[in-house]
Amino acid sequence: MAKITSVKPSRKRAKATRAAITAVHGYVPPDVLTNAELAKLVDTSDAWITERTGIKERHILKGEGLGTSHMGAEAVRGLLQKTGTPPKEVDLLICATTTPDFVFPSTANLICDMVGIRNIGSFDVQAACSGFIYAVAIATQFVENGGAKKVVVVGADKMSAILDYSDRATCVLFGDGAGAVMIEPSPNGHGIRDVLIRADGAGMPHLHQKAGGSRLPPSADTVAKRLHFVHQEGAAVYKFAVARMAEISMEVMLRNKLNPEKVDWLVPHQANKRIIEATAERMGLPMDRVMITINKYGNTTAATIPLCLWDYEPRLKEGDRMLFAAFGGGFTWAGAYVTWGYDAP
Ligand SMILES: CC(C)(COP(=O)(O)OP(=O)(O)OC[C@H]1O[C@@H](n2cnc3c(N)ncnc32)[C@H](O)[C@@H]1OP(=O)(O)O)[C@@H](O)C(=O)NCCC(=O)NCCS
Repeated sequence: MAKITSVKPSRKRAKATRAAITAVHGYVPPDVLTNAELAKLVDTSDAWITERTGIKERHILKGEGLGTSHMGAEAVRGLLQKTGTPPKEVDLLICATTTPDFVFPSTANLICDMVGIRNIGSFDVQAACSGFIYAVAIATQFVENGGAKKVVVVGADKMSAILDYSDRATCVLFGDGAGAVMIEPSPNGHGIRDVLIRADGAGMPHLHQKAGGSRLPPSADTVAKRLHFVHQEGAAVYKFAVARMAEISMEVMLRNKLNPEKVDWLVPHQANKRIIEATAERMGLPMDRVMITINKYGNTTAATIPLCLWDYEPRLKEGDRMLFAAFGGGFTWAGAYVTWGYDAP
């Protein structure tokens, strides 16, 4: 029988239940694209990319017929295995992605099918690089309301599918990857304490993909004009990113009466190391309390935050106070205050 994932608040649980991230897993494809290799494709150098972005290499998904769902499914499979969760116990799966396999059906639907999860609600969230925090915000509501007990949130993107490898200012920044977390009622009081999501559609001209949607459907002309790739005005995005990342982090700190000494980890979206450093500086946080994976993965869009959590999981302790912060195309931005639920496994 199909499960019912309800949004109706349960009076009994409404106040008492806190949602928590109880496990994390990640996946990056085996093929690595180094700065030196990119320098053979476009007029750039390892020195320029390292100095201006902090990126040394990124992973690229290769293989015919493999899309974002492939990486998402790998991350979810690992998550279910690690937690000993049978697929039938999952109540809801949300996938944050900007590079869905298809316009429809959703990548979340495909991931469910690939890992054997059936008859539950599953859908995609499209908020570019802020998508993971947006999806966490939705999952938190379901868990707090008692509508779902086990929610899988995936952030996954195959950016290499929409990058113009002749545009040196953009193609060096991104990589492919996926991360997944389990969100459940907290067993010990730690968990997701605050989530903020924001958007300003006026940012569209600076970061978008021109063709392929309903406004400009694919045609021989759109392909010839290279309109299916990421269009980015780097300097405008950079300015926005620094301002909004710092602003949302400060807002979350203020709302939760946190000062820099009380923040164990900043978990920032990984778009450019200089943006991350500027955010940490404005927050008054030293860089040894900031998660960094951009050097090896680049910007994996919706996957950066869960990939950070996966990478740093061995160093995390129950009760660690974390701030998530992201920004992305849209423009979108988002922040969260989380106390980590468990010691390193
Ligand atoms: C794209 C970005 C790295 C460019 O860095 P920058 O320091 O701002 O560089 P500028 O845009 O000022 O360009 C400086 C010069 O470097 C050149 N340049 C750009 N990319 C280059 C590359 N890969 N290699 C070498 N030179 C490059 C530019 O053409 C420009 O040359 P010019 O002065 O002759 O015109 C930076 O703007 C950025 O990170 N923006 C935000 C992007 C982002 O976060 N996107 C994700 C959103 S989720």
